Amino acid sequence: MLSGKMEKALNNQINAEMYSAYLYLSMAAYFEANDLPGCTQWMKAQAQEEMVHAMKLYGFVNERGSRVTLGAIKAPPVEWDSALAVFEQAYEHEQFVTSLINQLMDLAIEERDHATQIFLQWFVTEQVEEEASASEVVNKIKLAGETSGGLFIVDKELGQRALPVPVPGS
Ligand code: FEO
Repeated sequence: MLSGKMEKALNNQINAEMYSAYLYLSMAAYFEANDLPGCTQWMKAQAQEEMVHAMKLYGFVNERGSRVTLGAIKAPPVEWDSALAVFEQAYEHEQFVTSLINQLMDLAIEERDHATQIFLQWFVTEQVEEEASASEVVNKIKLAGETSGGLFIVDKELGQRALPVPVPGS
């Protein structure tokens, strides 16, 4: 069983992952409204991945004989100034999530909770990828310039990202 402190911290992380899904879905909606189907697709896939992260935590808390408790998910922003601004925020957000995962790992180490440390290793590795993929898009948009032609090409490329779970209208 998890300690009370660890249980609370993992439940907070479920909330953070659900918020991430909500944030990326809001970004997808912004792109949808701005006629950028590739960026929309990328963000929908990202939102689905965040749900997978949340469910991994959900499963682990249960597996350890502890209790999942869900709290309110705060509302995400809905407007941005540009596609670049969206991806810059996504990159910043991933850096923030990395800091949350590191704090969770610090707590697991402090509590000598070996099983949680091993479980969290997946998230530590995943965050390297999460930061890299968001920062890669930021760099691409910067390189292509924010001209409509450059953005059109980047958008096309981002549309190649497969949705883990197909959804209607995609
Ligand atoms: Fe679940 Fe994008 O970190």
